[in-house]
Amino acid sequence: MKKVTTLNKAVFPVAGLGTRFLPATKAQPKEMLPVVDKPLIQYAVEEAYAAGIRHMIFVTGRNKRAIEDHFDTAYELETELATAHKQDLLALVRSVQPDDMNCAYVRQPRSLGLGHAVLCAEHLVGHEPFAVLLADDLMVGTPPVLAQMAAQFEQLQQSLLAVQEVPLAHTRRYGIVAGEPVSEQLMKVTQMVEKPAPGVAPSRMGVAGRYILTPNVFKHIRNQSSGVGGEIQLTDGIAGLMTEEGVYAFQYSGKRYDCGSKEGFLEATVELALAHPEVGEHFRNYLKNLQVR
Ligand code: G1P
Repeated sequence: MKKVTTLNKAVFPVAGLGTRFLPATKAQPKEMLPVVDKPLIQYAVEEAYAAGIRHMIFVTGRNKRAIEDHFDTAYELETELATAHKQDLLALVRSVQPDDMNCAYVRQPRSLGLGHAVLCAEHLVGHEPFAVLLADDLMVGTPPVLAQMAAQFEQLQQSLLAVQEVPLAHTRRYGIVAGEPVSEQLMKVTQMVEKPAPGVAPSRMGVAGRYILTPNVFKHIRNQSSGVGGEIQLTDGIAGLMTEEGVYAFQYSGKRYDCGSKEGFLEATVELALAHPEVGEHFRNYLKNLQVR
């Protein structure tokens, strides 16, 4: 019988500069921008945790210390909240870093691309399958999108990419895959291209920022010369992996907000505010009475 491996580790590439959000990201990481009351990176970490993952690996860069502090004990804050008997807030602050979760940090010294960022985590991942979550893509789903993928991975034991149909005009923004359907939600990938022009895109299935990869991907990333934009692309590494192992595309149920763009970030803010237990009702009434011209 084939040995079944479960997913224990997640890699979060968070070294990017966030130039699309300047000046907000001049002195703080883009992953710390909050949607309603939670930073983007926390949504991604919670999604990994909900998928059963307990080892979080962050690939960081200069000016990213706020991320490390966020997932660490906030000693002064916790002491003050405890002294003031603000137990609810204390529990909220502590819930960011559950006792059974551990975090590791490794630096990506130069911006050489997403593939390179993932490669920086190789020694921390070791020889086991791992998830990659791009915090820019805020995913909302029930069950959470990575948990849907982890359940699929338990059965497949092969690499899995979250995909969604994208407008033809947007193929240049995504890794695009094509292949043979296996079931309603699953496709065996036979072609994968990073950010093709609409005229040459093999399909309209775009990769969202969630991956479950087998460790063999590392050697394929390492063997890549630079791809689109002069960067070492994760997409090219996965295309290499496909020559050796099965790679599958998974059409998740849920919604993706592209929080790497101002528009997507605003859409996430409005929709998550409407669903928020504390401010949702007020915000709904506010929007209803808003005169939009
Ligand atoms: C990255 C990947 C791309 C993927 C996208 C999802 O691109 O390179 O294949 O479709 O994330 O958000 P980026 O958005 O970092 O340019």
